[in-house]
Amino acid sequence: MKIAVMGCGIVGSGAVEITEELSALIAERCYEKEVEVKYILDIRDLSDKPYADKVIKDVDIIVNDPEIGVVVETMGGTEPAFTFCMKCMNAGKSVVTSNKQLVAEKAEELFAAAEKNNVCFRFGASVCGGIPVIRTLFTGMAADEIVRFAGILNGTTNFILTKMISDKMSFEAALKLAQEKGYAEKDPTADIEGFDACRKTAILSSIAFGKHIRPEEIHTEGITGVTLEDAAYAGDFNAAVKLLGRAEKTPGGKINAMVSPVFVKKDTLISGVNGVFNALSVTGKKVGELLLYGQGAGKDATASAVMADVLDCIRDKGFTPVYSWKNGTGKDVCDYLGYQTRLYIRGYAKNKNAAVSDIRESFGGVTVLSRENAPENEIAFVTGKEKESALRETLAGIRDFAPASVIRVFE
Ligand code: HSE
Repeated sequence: MKIAVMGCGIVGSGAVEITEELSALIAERCYEKEVEVKYILDIRDLSDKPYADKVIKDVDIIVNDPEIGVVVETMGGTEPAFTFCMKCMNAGKSVVTSNKQLVAEKAEELFAAAEKNNVCFRFGASVCGGIPVIRTLFTGMAADEIVRFAGILNGTTNFILTKMISDKMSFEAALKLAQEKGYAEKDPTADIEGFDACRKTAILSSIAFGKHIRPEEIHTEGITGVTLEDAAYAGDFNAAVKLLGRAEKTPGGKINAMVSPVFVKKDTLISGVNGVFNALSVTGKKVGELLLYGQGAGKDATASAVMADVLDCIRDKGFTPVYSWKNGTGKDVCDYLGYQTRLYIRGYAKNKNAAVSDIRESFGGVTVLSRENAPENEIAFVTGKEKESALRETLAGIRDFAPASVIRVFE
């Protein structure tokens, strides 16, 4: 079996290397004499690479070559990745992608093309890098109803938060290191503003609840507003700050889904997930809670998930409806302000005592937090559980208090 790789960046080059390094094992496990990368499509000059003789610039060489059975798409972004994947499937080739933006935005068209052409379309590496979360949800939990999930879905931001909190590294230095290690997206705004975690939450929600949930339906906040002060107050609350993507089915059938930084209590497993590691907690009606943990980004981990999908395509040979979901309405997610939560709030008041009395009176029970070397006029507290809209209304009514940070508490 000959395969092609479109986009030879971090993940694509990892897939090329694994195919070479584990060639005997891969061939044996998919009952082929050999599995070989025949073409590598990339716009860059790769003439110094050991695989330079395979590099091409024209996708039609792949599309028109009957020897190519599976195409790996690791280019990232929606275009030209979408057009190229469609061309390949319309030419009868299975497609494997690690591209979460492509899947989150274009899954419906891609599934339809796979079905029409009776080819496989797999995207196991698009969420949580090397952790087999997608196949676990699709097949391991096939006989269960998923009621909720919550996960650390972005390795870059978890790496940055860990470095900032444990090593007191600056945000900028931690981001630079994440880029050097190959964790961050080409444009790291997608990581730090939560868009990457949002796309992954959209994909997991679509699998969990069986219909296409679009990224724009999911309220998303990144980590750029999280400060070391907030991390210190989280410590006083016996919690860690994490960027979580989460979703759950409400009794009315709509989905509560959100991406935001949260305080996670230190007695939960997920709070101990540090560095580039990801974890997904998923709860099934029958199986209860599962926790999947591993490297969520990086060359080898993600490329191993890509190659597992290539093996599936070679073995499965045709479209498998189990790896797809139905179309959505674009209105399947509830307004996040209706979600019951507790809020951590940090802010400043000229008259601290008066403001704390007002806060206690207005919110009812609050937990006031402290940290070392806090300025005289700083106040931090955690509210009781209430609809977020009501909590924000109460906050707006506190006199002479300027909020600087609001972070949800995950329970
Ligand atoms: N930039 C992504 C992350 C890569 O940091 O998680 C893996 O999807």
